[in-house]
Amino acid sequence: MVSLTADMSPLHPDRNLALELVRATEAAAIRSVPFIGRGAKEAADGAAVDAMRAFLGTVNFDGVIVIGEGEKDNAPMLFNGEHVGTGRGPQCDVAVDPIDGTSLTAAGRNNALSVIAVSDRGAMLDASSVFYMDKLVTGPAGVGVVDIRLPIGENIRRLAKATGKPVEEIVVSVLHRDRHERLIEEIREAGAGTRLMSDGDVAGGINAARHNARTDICVGVGGSPEGIVTACAIKALGGHIQGRLWPRNDDEKQRGLDAGLKFDDFVYEADDLVKGNNTIFVATGVTDGQLVGGVRREGDHIYTESVVLRGASGTLRRISSEHLTSKWL
Ligand code: FBP
Repeated sequence: MVSLTADMSPLHPDRNLALELVRATEAAAIRSVPFIGRGAKEAADGAAVDAMRAFLGTVNFDGVIVIGEGEKDNAPMLFNGEHVGTGRGPQCDVAVDPIDGTSLTAAGRNNALSVIAVSDRGAMLDASSVFYMDKLVTGPAGVGVVDIRLPIGENIRRLAKATGKPVEEIVVSVLHRDRHERLIEEIREAGAGTRLMSDGDVAGGINAARHNARTDICVGVGGSPEGIVTACAIKALGGHIQGRLWPRNDDEKQRGLDAGLKFDDFVYEADDLVKGNNTIFVATGVTDGQLVGGVRREGDHIYTESVVLRGASGTLRRISSEHLTSKWL
């Protein structure tokens, strides 16, 4: 629920903020154009970070980056704890991923997105001390039906029953990594199909949760920041998301414990990843994907496609924009 003060400034992220944030993901996508398919992932990311930061600075909100490009000393911009926005307007937690899929961008492969998620201040889990999270994402049919503690075969059977689909029609997306070798075998042994993603499990999670999607479940270990960002989108889709932190070694686990994070059998439910429904997720396509088309330059114009998902209203909006190339590149 959006509350308004006497001067009508919203205390929480609101619908206008959602549209303002799109300008920042559009800018990041546009600035990455010269680097798409050019093999230069750091350069693509750097251009996207600079553009996103410049535009975030003009947005009327009081944002603190909870999930950014890393710690202050390693990340000159959009570092965790940095204040962004004009400082006027709603107080928010902010998660940025100027390009989710930097390798995809450098290679010119599908599914790279520029993403910002915001929530009420204090609502996002700060899992930045642990790089990986094991995740399970489905659409609304999976709520109260699937559980990350169960074997994947059981979750596939449960989701098939809940959706009325034969198991053979269930499609599970998973990052194509050595660590998932057994998981992939189990999915296939259960009778379901896989869609192996080379990168980009934010898009993978959202695609699995969408109405009429081509995939039904997204599972496996990917970045923890991506888990929080995905959770902000899942709130708007009414889907299911759970995560378990997946430390790479004892030191990383200890750093997580020191930061108050929980391990082993502890499951982070949607509300632990981001509290409440006052979430906004915006994404602009960098390269083509199921969710949105990638940014395209055609002579005098640059075309972008974006989505805006608002947890409070449960809406997914699409925004297509045309930009003058001369203003940008
Ligand atoms: P980057 O764009 O930061 O490289 O992230 C891409 C990504 O595929 C994420 O979508 C995913 O969560 C993570 O990397 C998986 O990490 P890894 O490549 O180490 O398995």
